[in-house]
Amino acid sequence: MLRVAVLASGRGSNLAALQACDDDAGFGIVGVFSDKPDSGALQHARDAGIHAQALVPGGYPNRESFDLAFFADVMQIQPDLIVCAGYMRIISAVALARLPVPMINIHPSLLPLYPGLHTHARALEAGDAEHGASVHLVTAELDGGPVIAQARVPVHADDDPTTLAARVLEREHHLLPASVALFARGRLKLHQGQPWLDGEPLAAPLQLRGKVLVQDGPDK
Ligand code: GRF
Repeated sequence: MLRVAVLASGRGSNLAALQACDDDAGFGIVGVFSDKPDSGALQHARDAGIHAQALVPGGYPNRESFDLAFFADVMQIQPDLIVCAGYMRIISAVALARLPVPMINIHPSLLPLYPGLHTHARALEAGDAEHGASVHLVTAELDGGPVIAQARVPVHADDDPTTLAARVLEREHHLLPASVALFARGRLKLHQGQPWLDGEPLAAPLQLRGKVLVQDGPDK
């Protein structure tokens, strides 16, 4: 069973989606960590009987010292994989360099488009015909690590950021568990910082079709 630590700052719907399928998919969520003590994600973890822990940045002199303390706590539960599911902090390069396990993040855009915030509004402003979400490896570059998998949705003419976000989020709830399951089954591995699938370098992001990830062809 792959031991997964989840980092989350918000409501925790991606955490809930992960937890709903963890046993079947070969992974178990062994801890949830947050910078927000009152986050929905931590409450969800407590309700589910999962180790839940908050560490607040305010008491630390800088980003590096907070991150080192935070990830020391995370590593106490001996995860094999760390999953950022709505963890809304930039992580310092110092802390990342010391992490002994892979870390992935889910981001609500088709990276490399729209790293950072307000992705749905930016996709609408640009007049994009499609939008979506990406799961990528976390590196020191914000939302800039190698992309592992993506889910695509159409943009409708009458969309606003709220309706578009809801359409993307529904796909996120399949994209993230399917991505973690690839690690759990030993199909996805890191080799010199790059994702490899089934023993080959991943040439292009996997695409979510229905509930499964495939190697080509977007889900339209
Ligand atoms: C998701 O849209 C995720 O892509 C982004 O933050 C949001 C988290 O939502 N990184 P939730 O807390 O999982 O409901």
